[in-house]
Amino acid sequence: MQLVGIVGSGSTITYVPIIVWDRVEHLAKEEQLVIIDDGKRGIKYLGILRNARRYEPFLSAYRRTSYVDNPALADAGTLPHTSAYAALVGTLESRAIGEVQLPPNPGSKVYVVEGAADLGISLGEGLIIGSHKYSGIEVPLDPYWLPYHLAVVGATGTGKSRLVKALIDEVLAKTGYSLIVFDHTGLDYARFYPDRVVEASRVVLDVSLITDLMLERSGLDARTYDPYFITAVLYYIYRELPPELRAEVFGSESTTAQRGLVSSGRGSDLRSFLSRLDRVDYEKLMAVMSRSPVEWSRERFKEAVSEIARSFSTKESVRVRLGVAVDIKLGEGFFRSLSSRDLLPSGIVDEALKKRLVVVDLSTEELVIRRYVVASVVSELWRRIEASRKPVNTVVVVDEAHNYACRYCGGAKSAIGRIAREGRKWGLGAVLVTQRIIDLDPDIRGNINTWFFSKLQTPSDFSELSGYMNLAGISEQSLAVLGSREFYVAGLMNPLRIPVLIRVREVE
Ligand SMILES: Nc1ncnc2c1ncn2[C@@H]1O[C@H](COP(=O)(O)OP(=O)(O)OP(=O)(O)O)[C@@H](O)[C@H]1O
Ligand SMILES: [Mg+2]
Repeated sequence: MQLVGIVGSGSTITYVPIIVWDRVEHLAKEEQLVIIDDGKRGIKYLGILRNARRYEPFLSAYRRTSYVDNPALADAGTLPHTSAYAALVGTLESRAIGEVQLPPNPGSKVYVVEGAADLGISLGEGLIIGSHKYSGIEVPLDPYWLPYHLAVVGATGTGKSRLVKALIDEVLAKTGYSLIVFDHTGLDYARFYPDRVVEASRVVLDVSLITDLMLERSGLDARTYDPYFITAVLYYIYRELPPELRAEVFGSESTTAQRGLVSSGRGSDLRSFLSRLDRVDYEKLMAVMSRSPVEWSRERFKEAVSEIARSFSTKESVRVRLGVAVDIKLGEGFFRSLSSRDLLPSGIVDEALKKRLVVVDLSTEELVIRRYVVASVVSELWRRIEASRKPVNTVVVVDEAHNYACRYCGGAKSAIGRIAREGRKWGLGAVLVTQRIIDLDPDIRGNINTWFFSKLQTPSDFSELSGYMNLAGISEQSLAVLGSREFYVAGLMNPLRIPVLIRVREVE
């Protein structure tokens, strides 16, 4: 513990002006932990040094003095000194940190904390993802608040994903929570846990999503073309399924259709399909598709769609457009990407609950499918909660969350929004990682109770942050100079009540 100065006049229970001892001025760095020893009252305070400034009594930048006419006067000598202030964390009691009730006395000595021994108390147990930047004291994060959600924000390259990797390891080692990690890039988490990776390209897509993809890819007007695609998709699946599975999903053939079976071949296939259309069990369909993955071929789909178009007695122009869409706009690659899907969202949840960690590699999929996967896995968690009325004790990690938790992110946003609003009751927490806070939907960001933030991408993010929490004197400028791996932690998981600067441990 090193003496760095004394308390100046005008302290409050949150804010303490400090006159820095000139000889050790270099030790009084912003974000240092300091102990203020109010010997007269026998109270010790813990604070964080902020806003250090260098002053000189005669060199006021706002008053006209002789220096204006003669800058060389400064060579004759100046009388600089440093002042700073401490944002108070609390009082140091025998075992814990107490509440500040009296402002520290002016003249009290101020010491810089150089290690855990100086504190004399323990900050408790918790998840350790790094230590305070200067003192090296480990900052334990209280896992009780995991289902109250946390967010990690910072400009690109600040180390957000590595921070979350450290957090994942701590959650696995020290809590009973399971984790489902959505890896947007496939580069951030999958490589750390190769035996826990599930490829999103294996997830079974539902009929309406496949239709939406076709409409989006082909650029055809949904109002006109939706009926053709959706019926054709279902018809295609109907034709591809082995007969016994077909009966499971589409019911057995109706007698009217059987009576129509005069001629064999595709025509009768279509008639029997159409007669069973109202009886499809879509949940069973998903299960059946996972057991017996449908292989998609451009050619066979084209057949299906033209049969459907003919049966709807469609104009030629519509039929031509459908053909162009299938052959050119969608193409072979699109159909290949629909094939070989054998995994249901419930399978991912099962895996997570059994092995405690699943990393869903979303990187191969287009955004619509990525969002669908996130939405359907989260919905599955909700189904389980609704069925059992018991906590699931699971944390859902969404990196590059602006793609999933934004205002217009559709089903993914709704699913994450529900976690943000109701997850705490069911042990379901969200960890959202993004470059800009304002890209998260306001309903979601308003429900986040622990924030990690570093150098920010935009100034509006800073005002957004200050709207959610007391930043205790942290300025936009002090964020701008943070290095990689340096994050403030603020909110419920922080043991210190005011934001504290940590350096994330080495994650390799
Ligand atoms: N805790 C750490 N340990 C070791 N290296 C780190 C750590 N944090 C960051 N790095 C280094 O910085 C690089 C960027 O980190 P990371 O990918 O976590 O940044 P990011 O904030 O997630 O960036 P982006 O917004 O682009 O996703 C890493 O590849 C790594 O080299
Ligand atoms: Mg990242």
